[in-house]
Amino acid sequence: METPNERLTAFSIELIDTHTWLREELARLRADIDAYLDGVGGRPRDLRAHCLTFCSALTRHHTGEDDHVFPALADEFPELRPTLEKLREDHHLVADILRRLEVLVAEADPADARRVRSELDGLAAILESHFGYEERRIASALDELKQTFDSSGLDVRVLTDGPAAP
Ligand SMILES: [Fe+2]
Ligand SMILES: [Fe+2]
Repeated sequence: METPNERLTAFSIELIDTHTWLREELARLRADIDAYLDGVGGRPRDLRAHCLTFCSALTRHHTGEDDHVFPALADEFPELRPTLEKLREDHHLVADILRRLEVLVAEADPADARRVRSELDGLAAILESHFGYEERRIASALDELKQTFDSSGLDVRVLTDGPAAP
């Protein structure tokens, strides 16, 4: 059976793994749209499905952070609250982009592919800074939590039993 520290380590690794997966999926999606714009890509229907799958995976990841991870960390590390607030603001910005993307994709006009590509560029820029900041701040908080776990009394299941990341 896992010790609390092992669970925290596993959670930290899972956070970074999920970011890595999302980064790779976004890169693949951008490449697919480029191929489509160059006239050598797949069908718009496949691109649409890929885009919507990515949007929902990213939304699920951020909802898990907002509803489970951040409240638990805020309780344990009040000094982290401004950081968590900033990360939540990023989630709102990302959600706005995802809403625009979903509308564009649902309209299914191939002429919109350039606008989709441009929204994905904006999304990639925000996510790159967001993921990096989150990994630095959250991973270091988790490391600190591991060191002080014996006296913290935090129920780490709050962190590790949230909705499964993709
Ligand atoms: Fe996040
Ligand atoms: Fe994240």
